[in-house]
Amino acid sequence: MRIFLTGATGYVGSTVLDALLRGSHDVTALVRDPEKAERLSLRGVHPILGDLSAPASYAEAAEACDAIVHTAYESSKRGPQIDRQAVDVLLGAAIRHASRGQDVSFVYTSDAWVLGNTTGKAAEDAPVRPTGLVDWRPEHEEIVLNAGRGRMLRTAVIRPGIVYGGGRGIIADMLKNAADGLVRVIGEGLNHWACVYDRDLADLYVRVTTSPDGSGVYHANDEADERVMDIVEAISRQAKVEPDVRHVPIEEARAKMGPYADALALNQIVRGPRARALGWAPTLHSVVGSVSRLLEEFRSKRAAA
Ligand SMILES: NC(=O)c1ccc[n+]([C@@H]2O[C@H](COP(=O)([O-])OP(=O)(O)OC[C@H]3O[C@@H](n4cnc5c(N)ncnc54)[C@H](OP(=O)(O)O)[C@@H]3O)[C@@H](O)[C@H]2O)c1
Repeated sequence: MRIFLTGATGYVGSTVLDALLRGSHDVTALVRDPEKAERLSLRGVHPILGDLSAPASYAEAAEACDAIVHTAYESSKRGPQIDRQAVDVLLGAAIRHASRGQDVSFVYTSDAWVLGNTTGKAAEDAPVRPTGLVDWRPEHEEIVLNAGRGRMLRTAVIRPGIVYGGGRGIIADMLKNAADGLVRVIGEGLNHWACVYDRDLADLYVRVTTSPDGSGVYHANDEADERVMDIVEAISRQAKVEPDVRHVPIEEARAKMGPYADALALNQIVRGPRARALGWAPTLHSVVGSVSRLLEEFRSKRAAA
């Protein structure tokens, strides 16, 4: 399949890229850095030099593909606005391609944080109650889902939990902090996090993108329902010297990190029956049960840097 991928150099997008290449898909990737573009082209990817905020740099390349997978996100104040523009441009490209009688799919990356604090187990049909950091996301999800209603176009929204593995992300930061001797936890740390292993998440992207039934919302998490303190304790046990754990009051965390603090303090029990109905079965079942492996991955990433 010819697939247009944004964010191929990022945490989520790079594991999606690995999975797409393993599946022998023909990948065109939007990349903003010429050196990174060069590295991707050595792996058989067709890089398009451009930027999400410059639609002319990528709209045509996206239109030429049978599927568009959007994982890029600019972490800046204009992030939501750029994402909205990119959604419009990429959907426009997909609709034009589909109107020529082609099967086209569009896969959008959202976030389990749109669910807010969950009550009971939140499956894909649960109402969204986004935490402040992602309060703009549900509108983008709706635009994507609406574009798929009644058209040839298949549209899907993937909501990953906190991604772990590959020595990157929030859990890798905790491993690093533990090795440095101090782990900070917001509040008591009795809140549950929804988490997903990066390669398992990538497998879901491939299934959703390539399956003729892949449309609608998909939750991606390992369903271990781990509390933050379960994760901290497991990580601490693996550290050479047991780290100190500092419980930071939410007000103090908010003053330092802004709305990101509230996202980390969310209590989430998330289920993904629609993802599992596609045959998706995560290979890693929890952070706690995978700490030694995650530490290995963290060390190899550091060694390679
Ligand atoms: N990581 C998680 O735990 C997690 C969990 C749930 C949802 N998500 C969502 O997944 C998405 C990706 O997150 P991530 O963790 O993979 O982030 P990331 O590692 O920061 O990657 C972001 C990617 O977007 C690209 N990018 C940023 N601004 C761009 C622009 N203006 N034009 C073109 N490309 C641009 C980056 O390219 P460069 O290499 O040039 O910087 C990079 O490839 C986000 O929407 C995030 O909210 C992530």
